[in-house]
Amino acid sequence: MKVLELNNVSKSFPFGHGRRIEVLTKVSLTVPAAGTVAISGSSGSGKTTLLNVIGGLVQPTDGEVSWRGKSIYADGRAGLTRWRSEAVGFIFQAYHLMPELSARENILLPAAFRRRDAAALAAELIEQVGLRERADHRPAELSGGEQQRAAIARALINDPALILADEPTGNLDPANSEAVLALLLDLARKKNKAVVLVTHDAAIAQRMDLRYRLVGGKLETNL
Ligand SMILES: Nc1ncnc2c1ncn2[C@@H]1O[C@H](COP(=O)(O)OP(=O)(O)OP(=O)(O)O)[C@@H](O)[C@H]1O
Ligand SMILES: [Mg+2]
Repeated sequence: MKVLELNNVSKSFPFGHGRRIEVLTKVSLTVPAAGTVAISGSSGSGKTTLLNVIGGLVQPTDGEVSWRGKSIYADGRAGLTRWRSEAVGFIFQAYHLMPELSARENILLPAAFRRRDAAALAAELIEQVGLRERADHRPAELSGGEQQRAAIARALINDPALILADEPTGNLDPANSEAVLALLLDLARKKNKAVVLVTHDAAIAQRMDLRYRLVGGKLETNL
């Protein structure tokens, strides 16, 4: 079953004096439930833009983004925000942790007013990403890899059906990289989550079900 679909999506940004840069050109993509999708492409090819379009953070200039057959823009701004917080977990390239909060508080943030069992769930995720000893440190007191693992746990706290990960292992040593990858693959295989992952690493891409590469704004199949 497909959960997320892009249909002929184009995205251009204004820059300079009345000029525009087209980053995505008629991109179509189907993300199946329980499926893993790798996106690669050179720096500046539009990978982060594509993830932002998939997750409704950036609205395309043209084309459709649909979730279970319905446009994510059909129910206005409030509907879009609700969908994003319930269905989508973002692991950003630059972590985006709140500097005043501890790792544990950051992980709990998206769940704050929703789940009664959030604290127990956060503790479980902290364990899974190997942050037990650092859970009460603030981001400035964490290494890059530890911040990355906190950001991964935060993305999973609401049990999202769609997980979008921008180079989630980019800052991790081989052991932690493998643990994070195994966690994401497990979420797809055992919990039917859809995972879209941006990676430069061909060995990581090979472990995903579907592989694409962004070249000149177009999405090409990458074997
Ligand atoms: N808000 C924006 N306004 C103008 N141009 C933008 C904007 N966001 C992205 N771009 C441009 O779009 C292109 C693609 O950017 P994007 O961040 O998607 O690339 P990327 O593939 O993720 O690169 P990297 O591997 O370095 O993270 C770049 O040339 C960038 O300058
Ligand atoms: Mg990027």
